[in-house]
Amino acid sequence: METALTALESSTLSRIREAVTAEALEAVRVEVLGRKGQLAAVSRDMGKLTPEERARVGKLLNTVKTSVEAALEARRAEFEAQALALRLDAEWLDMTVPAGGTRPGALHPVSRIQQEIEDLFHSLGFTILDGPEVEDEYHNFDALNIPPDHPARDMQDTFWLEGGLLLRTHTSPVQVRGMERLGPPLRMIAPGRVFRNESVDASHEHTFYQVEGMMIDRDVSVANLIFFMTTLLTAVFKRQVTVRLRPGFFPFVEPGFELDIRCLICAGEGCPVCKHSGWVELLPCGLVNPRVLQASGIDSEQWGGFAFGLGLTRLVMMRYAIDDIRWLQSGDLRFLEQFA
Ligand code: PHE
Repeated sequence: METALTALESSTLSRIREAVTAEALEAVRVEVLGRKGQLAAVSRDMGKLTPEERARVGKLLNTVKTSVEAALEARRAEFEAQALALRLDAEWLDMTVPAGGTRPGALHPVSRIQQEIEDLFHSLGFTILDGPEVEDEYHNFDALNIPPDHPARDMQDTFWLEGGLLLRTHTSPVQVRGMERLGPPLRMIAPGRVFRNESVDASHEHTFYQVEGMMIDRDVSVANLIFFMTTLLTAVFKRQVTVRLRPGFFPFVEPGFELDIRCLICAGEGCPVCKHSGWVELLPCGLVNPRVLQASGIDSEQWGGFAFGLGLTRLVMMRYAIDDIRWLQSGDLRFLEQFA
């Protein structure tokens, strides 16, 4: 019996050493140490032995059990170490590898042209002013000589909010705030986002950008206006553009004009952006209506001025030959990356 036990011990120890999976190891454990295992069977058979034999075999049985348990434990620890090594291998990070897939950002074309225009006007002595996008009726309409029954106040054009507030439909209210706060003489531009309750198509957005501006001084004339507008357009397009002036009506200017440029996308042939007319309405302008000056506390006998409203979004479309206004706010990287 003792020989059989010793043989069992050595064969078990070598099976443990050869086991390559946790499952194989567990199978050996159950087979040898389990309740119905080989050592249990030996211990059952011990009843047939004499008391001296039983003492000897019992002692040997314990030794075998202990050594098998220790071997199992040692092999299990080896498995765990191997698993850990594998995991660390898989998780290994090389902190020195250059990051892949990053792309440098770029300014949105609207921001880019806005900054160019700001730089230009800054160099001509104009202040750049900012104002709220949520405006009150007074600054968006009344102070600009737009009476309550004017079509511009029609529900169709304006996003009305509660309490007489609205989303500004142009950046002219910033000019009103500029006149109120700074007084004459004044040279300012107001770039910003404006909102109109329009249905969206290739050339209309409910949200777009403008740069409006004004100059108030003594003896300001239409000649001054034309000079500044020509300087502006030459700088923006970096080439001679064909313009035309038409009379235009805006309650806050008198006389008022529409400055159009020949469509730079189709060169006047006709395309969706110019609504097949060959001309793009770019720049309404005029001499500031004396009522507007007075409303903001400026003496219209002493001071006069010109004002203009530049469609920044449309300007960007002309400059980069973008044929659908919806690209600009699409957030589509295929579009945006072209400006990187
Ligand atoms: N505020 C006008 C608009 O948004 C533009 C404009 C400004 C017209 C200044 C004339 C003079 O439509």
